Amino acid sequence: MTSKEIRKAFLNYFQSKSHHIVSSAPIVVKNDPTLMFTNAGMNQFKDIFLGNHHSNYPRISNSQKCLRVSGKHNDLEEVGKDTYHHTMFEMLGNWSFADYFKEEAIAWAWEFLTDVVKIDKNNLYVTVFGGDEHDCTAKDMEAYNFWKKIIGEDRILFGNKKDNFWEMGDSGPCGPCSEIHVDIRSKEDKNKISGKELVNKDHPQVIEIWNLVFMQYNRTANGKLELLSNKYVDTGMGFERLCMVLQGKQSNYDTDVFQPLIQAIAKMAKQEYGVDKQKDIAMRVISDHLRAVAFTIADGQLPSNTGAGYVIRRILRRAVRYGFTFLNFDKAFICDLLSTLTEQMGEQFPELKKQEALLYKVIKEEEQSFLRTLSLGIQKFEQYIVTHQQETVINGDFAFELFDTYGFPIDLTQLMAEEKGKTVDMKAFNEDLTAQKERSRAVASTETDDWQVIKDDNIGSTTFVGYDTTKADVNILRYRKVKAKDKTFYQIVLDQTPFYAESGGQVGDSGTLSNNNETINVVNTKKENNLIVHICDKLPQNISATFIAEINCQKRQLTENNHSATHLLHFALRKVLGNHVEQKGSLVTAERLRFDFSHFSKMSKEELRQVEITVNQLIRKNIALNDHRDVPIAEAEKMGAIALFGEKYGNKVRIVQFGDSIEFCGGTHVKSTGNIGIFHIVSESAIAAGIRRIEAVSSEGADKILYNQRDTLEELRELFNNTPDLNGSIKRSLAENTHLKKQIEVLTNEKTLILRDNLLNNCQSINNIQLIIHQGNESPEIIKSLVGFFKEKFSDVKFAFVAGTVYEDKPSLTLLLSTAMTDAGYNATNMIRQAAKAIEGGGGGQVFLATAGGKNSKGLNEAIAQLTKLITQNN
Ligand code: SER
Repeated sequence: MTSKEIRKAFLNYFQSKSHHIVSSAPIVVKNDPTLMFTNAGMNQFKDIFLGNHHSNYPRISNSQKCLRVSGKHNDLEEVGKDTYHHTMFEMLGNWSFADYFKEEAIAWAWEFLTDVVKIDKNNLYVTVFGGDEHDCTAKDMEAYNFWKKIIGEDRILFGNKKDNFWEMGDSGPCGPCSEIHVDIRSKEDKNKISGKELVNKDHPQVIEIWNLVFMQYNRTANGKLELLSNKYVDTGMGFERLCMVLQGKQSNYDTDVFQPLIQAIAKMAKQEYGVDKQKDIAMRVISDHLRAVAFTIADGQLPSNTGAGYVIRRILRRAVRYGFTFLNFDKAFICDLLSTLTEQMGEQFPELKKQEALLYKVIKEEEQSFLRTLSLGIQKFEQYIVTHQQETVINGDFAFELFDTYGFPIDLTQLMAEEKGKTVDMKAFNEDLTAQKERSRAVASTETDDWQVIKDDNIGSTTFVGYDTTKADVNILRYRKVKAKDKTFYQIVLDQTPFYAESGGQVGDSGTLSNNNETINVVNTKKENNLIVHICDKLPQNISATFIAEINCQKRQLTENNHSATHLLHFALRKVLGNHVEQKGSLVTAERLRFDFSHFSKMSKEELRQVEITVNQLIRKNIALNDHRDVPIAEAEKMGAIALFGEKYGNKVRIVQFGDSIEFCGGTHVKSTGNIGIFHIVSESAIAAGIRRIEAVSSEGADKILYNQRDTLEELRELFNNTPDLNGSIKRSLAENTHLKKQIEVLTNEKTLILRDNLLNNCQSINNIQLIIHQGNESPEIIKSLVGFFKEKFSDVKFAFVAGTVYEDKPSLTLLLSTAMTDAGYNATNMIRQAAKAIEGGGGGQVFLATAGGKNSKGLNEAIAQLTKLITQNN
């Protein structure tokens, strides 16, 4: 079976068991402080497991793009070295939301594997949770008894908490799990040792393929387990591993999921896969990482220096480094593999195909910039080797600097050290690494208490009324305390709210919760998954009272102006530049708006002006908002509404329309475009290859900028005596300035020539040394020019030039010695340092030319006298 057929067979099977098939959620997670990337199929259903929402479907199935590179489930360092770990992988899953439980989940998994895709039963083993003393949990005999019906008891193993108890984070829903393992070894090997002995022993050919999690507990913040009232099933099967088994391969990388990429890499590197161990690892690393990076960028996450963007940058750098070290790629090469990837996966994931040109640009630039850093690091390493030739151990702090600043993984430094016959002080390196990790842990650490339920928690019921009103009567449903660094705040969930929670680029509302007795400030509103969380600096005294929730209307109005202006800007950009413009990020605050979009060249002044004019025309047309709520997604697409890559949309969506500008959007907007008043672009720049950023202001923000500009103009005009022709006056003034500079130059040259002749006439000869002494107030440039001339003129004789000047109230000394003098042992630097004391200063330079500056002009005579003495006394 091909990988495409396998994916299809899985989804068809669960569809036949009444599962609703949903598409993969974006790989980049938004609105979840505990997660950067989707790391399991269940992430998109987290809100349902947490009890914040009901599922519209009791049974769901899908194939989910996942990334495991940070946090609790992190496989990055394994990837490439073995044959079955990945950063990005597809997870095939089926879920039951308070519907079926262990019996069906077990029976269907078995039926799919043994009947549908026909894996030999004799190659399968299953594990069951064996209980945990600390958690006071018993063996999962329920699961054991169901397994017993379909598989021999000799193939059922009990496992510990680490392997057979699945938790999505430090707290939250969790439960025992049953894993299905497959033994793909040869008959011969199986005869030597039973597969049962090798389950969960990191054997590359006896591996887990499917994890059936039975969520029946909730782990509270203090680590205790509580039984859930609703039970759930969450299963996840590694798609690439399943392909390996069904295609009779020994490695995921030998399947049709990876081979086209690996063959393309091998061809580019002029190597053969399967010949050299190190080169094979490199090819696996590159093929895996390319997928991770391409899918993530396609979902809207650009490489950057922080957060998710930094993780992506690190993955890409790991691939570049493997290519560089083991396959001799010293130029960007990963970008050239994109066409193979889109050819192979573009059908299932159209976001790749649609954005191929952008992905190419972004990846290429990242590669090039890292290769530059890498070569700087190598230079640094070479310098280190030269200056530490005698030492056989490379300093751990230095290795850490290479790691931290130049992105050198420690094994690369070790490899380079080995080539020079040295080792690395790993103890010191690891100490630095641990210290760094602890520093960032201390910065990031927050303590979140469990939710305290106040009112019957009618799940999923926070009604957002903020599209229509700014004020509402509300009750608190639940709250919890959060300690971050040295600040404590409270998160409050209401039954209904006019507060818009930060999302889709628009900042959260602030405002108050008040009643006759007290007022609580809501400093911000955020989303956690889909829960609207009000962030307050304290709790009300009477938590069960009814409050009036009221938002800060001025902030909201200004934010809405900027949000609607962002839609008009998006529309205008597509009109002026073309439909290749795709939104790649936005930030909408009360003060300004920022809009990132794909476009491959700097916008010209005319294009920018045209965009600005288009937006302002739309504002003046005063187009009314057409707010379409709860539109079925298919209908929204038919309307031609613009959706964003990397956004998760439900079955029903909200569409915001101003005339021809139609977008999927959950934000708040002006009632008609006239409210925006005026739109003004502040800057246009590049933020990555192929991605431009426009920063702009509207309404009062634009007024402020225009007033500032007018004030500046008025001040300038005043400087030019209120001339009516400011432009002309500035140009004339600049021209005059250039002319005067030229005149000064001519005069200075003349002065230098006169001085030079004068000094030559006064050249003395003492003890066979030609000596010119000058004291005056010339600029350093004039003295420099004299030095140049004398150096040339007196190159063959014993000669010294001493200059002491006071220029702009500062005394300075210059001493020039000819080669004959330095050969005779004179040293200008030493001499000037001695003499500079008289002017209360210091200086330095070379043996033949030194200068010094000082504070005391009165000491200049003395300094010159000292220098003269040092020169003329017999050496
Ligand atoms: N959530 C479980 C896992 O990731 C099953 O899907 O293994």
